Amino acid sequence: MQFSVGGMPANGVAVHTASRAPLDKALANRIVPMASLFAFLHHVAAFALVAALAVEFVLIKGELTVQSARKLLLTDLVFGVSSGVVLVVGLLRVFYFEKGASYYFHSVPFITKLSLFAVVGLLSIYPTVTFLSWRASLKQGLVPAVVAAKISIIRRIVHWELVAVVVILLCAALMARGVGYVGA
Ligand code: HEM
Repeated sequence: MQFSVGGMPANGVAVHTASRAPLDKALANRIVPMASLFAFLHHVAAFALVAALAVEFVLIKGELTVQSARKLLLTDLVFGVSSGVVLVVGLLRVFYFEKGASYYFHSVPFITKLSLFAVVGLLSIYPTVTFLSWRASLKQGLVPAVVAAKISIIRRIVHWELVAVVVILLCAALMARGVGYVGA
């Protein structure tokens, strides 16, 4: 099901072709605020995700101390939670708000965006597992014993995650404006 207002998608961009009877004013008045709320939540979560990744990148580049290791664990938690919110809210927008699922699954930028999001998720497993393994040392107030090569791998992973997120942002802008739509 896809919400539209007066035959237009809830966000007012006329890209899809599905014709739905115009919703009555009372329903439209409920949907537009909801679509706006979900757009807001998506942006807040996406900004938090980018901020967490950037902070992680800076922290992992510096010297590893008890404080920086604790901050890395916390930042990674923020990254994980914000990724979850981005995904859930994003899917709700795909299926219930905006232009409808059939539009997005015919959008090359959307499919690229979703695939890159999955790649970022997979890449993030290694840093997360490593950070979680530090908890025992940190509980004792000790700097986690970790070889330089491992830190270097994590730094490179976070770097590529950041690159992927920049491409995701480009895809978001394109898909929102109908660029790369391959439907009839
Ligand atoms: C790192 C992850 C993500 C970031 C940084 C991100 C960022 C954004 C941004 C900035 C927009 C606004 C685009 C614009 O109006 O110009 C947007 C829109 C949107 N995003 Fe995401 N997003 C991410 C992941 C996802 C995921 C995983 C989904 C779905 C499963 C999703 C679904 C959507 C939808 C449906 C829109 C509305 C597009 C429209 O107006 O037609 N996003 N995203």
